[in-house]
Amino acid sequence: MKEAKSVFVSLAALLISLALAPGTPPAAVAYTPFSDAEPVLDALAEVLPPGLRAKSHPELESMWPSWVKSRDAEIRERLNQGDEDTIINLLLFGTSFTQEPRLTAAQLKKLSPDPNQVVEGEPGTQVRALIQSRVQDLIIGMDSPGNNERLLFARKVAERAGIKFSDANGKEEAAHYLYEKYLRVLREQSSYQQLLAAAHSLGDPTEEFAERSKIYKDRGLSLDTSLPPDFALEVALTTMRDRGLLSASSVRRVGIIGPGLDFTDKQEGYDFYRTQTVQPFAVMDSLVRLGLVKPEKLEVDSFDLSSRVLEHVERARRAALQGRPYTIQLPRDPLRGWKPELVAYWKRFGDQIGSSVPPVAVPPSLHGIESRAVSVRPTFVKRMRALDVNIVLQREEVPEKAKFDLLVATNVLVYYDTFEQSLALTNIQSMLRPGGFLLTNNLLLELPSLKMRSGDYVPVEYSSRPADGDRILWYRRLP
Ligand SMILES: C[S@@+](CC[C@H](N)C(=O)[O-])C[C@H]1O[C@@H](n2cnc3c(N)ncnc32)[C@H](O)[C@@H]1O
Repeated sequence: MKEAKSVFVSLAALLISLALAPGTPPAAVAYTPFSDAEPVLDALAEVLPPGLRAKSHPELESMWPSWVKSRDAEIRERLNQGDEDTIINLLLFGTSFTQEPRLTAAQLKKLSPDPNQVVEGEPGTQVRALIQSRVQDLIIGMDSPGNNERLLFARKVAERAGIKFSDANGKEEAAHYLYEKYLRVLREQSSYQQLLAAAHSLGDPTEEFAERSKIYKDRGLSLDTSLPPDFALEVALTTMRDRGLLSASSVRRVGIIGPGLDFTDKQEGYDFYRTQTVQPFAVMDSLVRLGLVKPEKLEVDSFDLSSRVLEHVERARRAALQGRPYTIQLPRDPLRGWKPELVAYWKRFGDQIGSSVPPVAVPPSLHGIESRAVSVRPTFVKRMRALDVNIVLQREEVPEKAKFDLLVATNVLVYYDTFEQSLALTNIQSMLRPGGFLLTNNLLLELPSLKMRSGDYVPVEYSSRPADGDRILWYRRLP
């Protein structure tokens, strides 16, 4: 609840700053009106959440405003668990607070969520000892975080759970806390593997994709982001241009739903550079490269419910208004075996909106990791705005002539079930201009009452590892 409150406070701050920004119209955010939700409630009567089930229309209508507000708070509450998951990624992969080696993918795969079980094919004690040392080092770091923003954040998350580092037994409690959360994350990972296997056993690729598309519906909301989905978006945009769906300079207003924050992601988890957001810049870069926008006309709004994401974007925009560029670090592990097309994307990333600069040095413990960096020109950075929107229950209210040409939501809707995804699609529809597109990597239900229709999709492989890729679908708003 605390998080939700602080989001509302920061919304006010953001709106004030937006109103003050020269040439930028103030933004208005509203909850989904009942009239728009009604067809979704009708069509999905069988799968509504308990509080909305078996109610008459007048009952639903009168309870809608309060239900929406309380559900909004519940969804925002899920950010807390996502924060804890992120701290566990830092525990497993971080190099800024420890000399211990990172956990390898192979070790992670073999780890059992049961602390008493021996790790398959390897003495469990060895991995447990490694994790214990990492826990100790992380606690030392959290106790004296200096200006390491990840350690400061980890400490804040632990303090939120009631841990006081100043207490005599504070560090012991912190160790207990980290170990518990680590075991929870392991248990969840193993249950996701089971869900994926169950989806696969359906034997129908579309059904499997539909199941995968909501697999995190009960998970904490995490902010992770990485480069490969941005490559997949560029492939999709190229296909749409080549098929005549998007013509030269036809895109002006773009919205990124859930841009994310690269803090320490669950796959690679680098922590040797400052946290950053990537997707808004990636989409700008691709649109300029493909000739789909006039750079001087482009506007990119970021919609998120995380105050951390919103404040980050807003800080970057303010800095750009004072002429400061935004630097993005792009590490790459050659052992991940990226496809040549993805490597080429990594090499060209940012060349339309900025220029290459020397990257932050890769620490010696990460030997083999390559990196490059891009400095994005302020003229592009200041085209971004940040808006506090929970896309499941809210929308930006946009006048007809300012509606979006393109909305992007990758790795966002997967955190919601069919009902909430359908509400999100209603909000997305209200923000798109007729003929505008949503690009997503989740398969969404197409309710006949909605004006959103799926076009096609492009499958994009990131490496030759199994299931290492995405499908980007486009949904078009009918007139
Ligand atoms: C896992 S990250 C994905 C980041 C990026 N889109 C990508 O694909 O790399 C999910 C992002 O969506 C945001 N998010 C989750 N639920 C949301 C919602 N209901 N409305 C708006 N943003 C949401 C999170 O705060 C986070 O920034």
